[in-house]
Amino acid sequence: MKLGLFGFGCVGQGLWKVLHETKGIRADIKRICIKHPDKQRPVPAHFFTTNALEILDDPEIDIVVELIDDADAAFEIVSGALARGKAVVSANKKMIAHRLPELYALQQKTGAAFLYEGACCASIPIIRNLEEYYDNDLLTSVEGIFNGTTNVILSKIFEENLSFAEALKFAQVHGFAESDPSLDVDGFDPKFKLCILLLHAFGVFVRPEKVLHFGIGRVNAFDIEFARSRGCVLKLVARCFRENDKVAAYCLPRFVPQNHRYASVRHEYNAVTLESAFSEHQMFVGKGAGDKATGCAVLSDISALRYQYKYEYRKFSQNGTFFDTSETELTVYVRHEREGQIAEQDFASISERYISGAAHYWIGKISLEKLQAAAWLNDVGVNVIELKN
Ligand code: HSE
Repeated sequence: MKLGLFGFGCVGQGLWKVLHETKGIRADIKRICIKHPDKQRPVPAHFFTTNALEILDDPEIDIVVELIDDADAAFEIVSGALARGKAVVSANKKMIAHRLPELYALQQKTGAAFLYEGACCASIPIIRNLEEYYDNDLLTSVEGIFNGTTNVILSKIFEENLSFAEALKFAQVHGFAESDPSLDVDGFDPKFKLCILLLHAFGVFVRPEKVLHFGIGRVNAFDIEFARSRGCVLKLVARCFRENDKVAAYCLPRFVPQNHRYASVRHEYNAVTLESAFSEHQMFVGKGAGDKATGCAVLSDISALRYQYKYEYRKFSQNGTFFDTSETELTVYVRHEREGQIAEQDFASISERYISGAAHYWIGKISLEKLQAAAWLNDVGVNVIELKN
């Protein structure tokens, strides 16, 4: 296998390392397309080019590996490679989540394989499991900790009393965070992964804009103390589930009891819990971010191309499931600053109210639709955390 690689950042270098440390796979990187030729790199200069066509139009290169940051440029590369009949491997969750319908259509049209295990929870082999093992309609929910950076931040805050800024810095230095870390902190990144998994789990295309996401950027000392006082830690959890033909999804921080299985998923580790009709819950745990953890998922996709592996998207063609959040109700803690800041009529019920000089909070039930539409959610003085068993 001859590979043409786009991008040589954290994941690209991770792939280079795992490829050179793995004897069983005969795949050579022939050319690496980069944006900044003047950067110092730990690989001989003759590998590099700034001309994408040197890869796309090279008949010797049969696999294009796309590992760049820019989602629009990534789509051009991936679609250009698929149109030329080349197999493509990508780890670009933002691009894939936004362009899945087009990418699906391109695969159908060209017959070329497009694999992206590295885009969802890095080392956890979740897409291929959903495709192959859970290829029936027994699955009822997929949820978990889908972002390493926020899990590092929350672990460092709860276990080491680090400040938010120090913990984020740690995640950045170790190559876990996106180059724009607000994608992690504000919950976009786990939502993108959720949108990809929605297709493989339940056969639905869901545009990221339709899914509520709320990250951990507003977590403050009061919330942390509240969590501790209830014997909990915080985790950012993305979730999708099916009831009859309807599928709903959202991504919210959650209070997790210290003895809950998610509490032991710490630092850059991710977890994916699947629930299905007869097996109840199964949890996959593994490193969800980092050069080698993502590089090894990319390598596994490259390796699967040896036997012409393709996603079959069986659930897409099989069932009539559709995205609908109208019946989903959540129990949430809503911390705010003053009376009148939150619209009480949005809530189905409120079971706890707290008022002090430091903060106010309510705990209550609210429909996902109402929460998603609430103007007060945009107020930076408001934080929302889910309570769920
Ligand atoms: N920034 C991502 C994370 C990288 O922290 O999970 C892996 O997708």
